Amino acid sequence: PVSVFPDPAKASVAVAQRIANLIKDKQAKGESAVLGLATGATPVRVYAELVRLHKEEGLSFKNVVTFNLDEYYPMHPEAAQSYVRFMKENLFSHIDIDPVNIHIPDGTIALEDIPAYCLEYERQISSYGGLDLQILGIGRTGHIGFNEPGSAPNSGTRLVTLDDLTRRDASFDFGGKENVPTKAITMGIGTIFKAREIILMAWNQKKAEIIKKAVEGEMSSDVPATYLQQSSSVEFVLDADAASELT
Ligand code: F6R
Repeated sequence: PVSVFPDPAKASVAVAQRIANLIKDKQAKGESAVLGLATGATPVRVYAELVRLHKEEGLSFKNVVTFNLDEYYPMHPEAAQSYVRFMKENLFSHIDIDPVNIHIPDGTIALEDIPAYCLEYERQISSYGGLDLQILGIGRTGHIGFNEPGSAPNSGTRLVTLDDLTRRDASFDFGGKENVPTKAITMGIGTIFKAREIILMAWNQKKAEIIKKAVEGEMSSDVPATYLQQSSSVEFVLDADAASELT
């Protein structure tokens, strides 16, 4: 299903509310809520609303376990562009989550250790019973996580090469495309698909074209987000601009 909101702020509050409800339902049962999280511009307001719910309405994250989708490779966790830093600044430093419950792919792992590291990431997700809810943005290449065109539908967590367009889109953050890492560690399409619920968010006119392809286009590895059409547990949460090319 596709939900269209008038603006990103309203859409973000609605998504944050769904996350909060999941956390509270699990709390009531004495269980953990296992969240798959994304970085980038799209989820920033969702995280801001979760921080507000924590500070003003007492929402606790003590029972929350998180797995982030991806991290650039190589990437030092303290670097300005690291997703570890992003998550601390936008969410984790402002809530009461137990740091041992936070998982983000490690951009400092030695190249030869990456395959084992990625299997271990998958094993850890499974050890918590899998992801209850995965939050996604979408890149202009149609990537989800950093699963660029060509990614297989059953792919797992792995080292990938970033598309040129993805690196161009990140060039502002890195002060030039030449400084954007060429690789990343990302959960696979298969990893994402195992989540019990998936919410893909997109805002702004610049996402309208890829959203049209993702929602209405033929399913193809050329646009990895089209694989989501196969899942009944996916919701596309859009603002009016991102939805503007849908028929
Ligand atoms: C981020 C991620 C990416 C982004 C996508 C959109 O963890 O996995 O797929 O969601 O590149 O980025 P923004 O939100 O910056 O437009």
